[in-house]
Amino acid sequence: MREAVALALAAVVGVSPASVPEGTCEVRDISITWGFKESFRSYISGSIAQGSWEVSGDVGYEIPHFTLTGGTGYVDAARDEGIVAFEGGIVFSGHDGILETALQNPELIITGTREATLVLDVTGDTMEEVSVNQRDVRFATVTWGRGAEEVVPSEGVWGVEGAQVVLTQEGSDAFGTYPAGEVMDPMSFRLEVSPGCLDEGTIWWIPGGVAALTVGASALALAIQRGRRSRGQERP
Ligand code: HEM
Repeated sequence: MREAVALALAAVVGVSPASVPEGTCEVRDISITWGFKESFRSYISGSIAQGSWEVSGDVGYEIPHFTLTGGTGYVDAARDEGIVAFEGGIVFSGHDGILETALQNPELIITGTREATLVLDVTGDTMEEVSVNQRDVRFATVTWGRGAEEVVPSEGVWGVEGAQVVLTQEGSDAFGTYPAGEVMDPMSFRLEVSPGCLDEGTIWWIPGGVAALTVGASALALAIQRGRRSRGQERP
């Protein structure tokens, strides 16, 4: 539902600072690094396709990563909803122009805790010779574990390192060749919002401490009970 709302918002009004919903954190700065898929880059630049790629707008390339900077959008304080949209994209070409696939206007939509969807406009012919010209393709899912996150609410920083990116069915249909479920290169991102806007998060040591106290108290009770029993046995 959240994803649908975010997608509708992106499609209708575009993401600009004006569309940042009240009570959420506007993204002031963001940088995403993603290699797309290393084997595809090798294929394109190698002897089979003899091609190359060009980047434009917010998208750059520095071996071996595409970089996305300058996106606009928001994330909510709990970091489980949000959208950041970029302009520009990548055009892969090869096979003397038979292969010319454009992936443009990327959006990273935060769809839940530690999951996001990468949305792209896809244009070009697939290797199966299907011509595609499709906007807002939910291209891939992006997921990560808690250990991959760096969250510093006092500085308004949220970073994710090495998230897993998996091609969706929609992405597979639009891009061709790779089946749904294909693992793409990992993605990392780091974004900044105003300091203090992000939630501090759960203080995990409180339940842990309660559990430790409970275990400690049970062990003590058991020891006292055993002590009583053994003293009892010593009696004639
Ligand atoms: C003249 C037309 C084409 C020829 C002869 C051709 C040939 C090939 C060959 C031989 C491979 C296997 C490469 C390997 O195993 O190392 C391959 C892989 C691939 N081709 Fe094409 N191709 C053509 C067009 C296209 C087009 C239009 C696309 C659209 C994007 C495409 C996408 C791919 C992809 C995604 C792979 C897999 C790369 C990887 O990750 O290993 N090809 N192609």
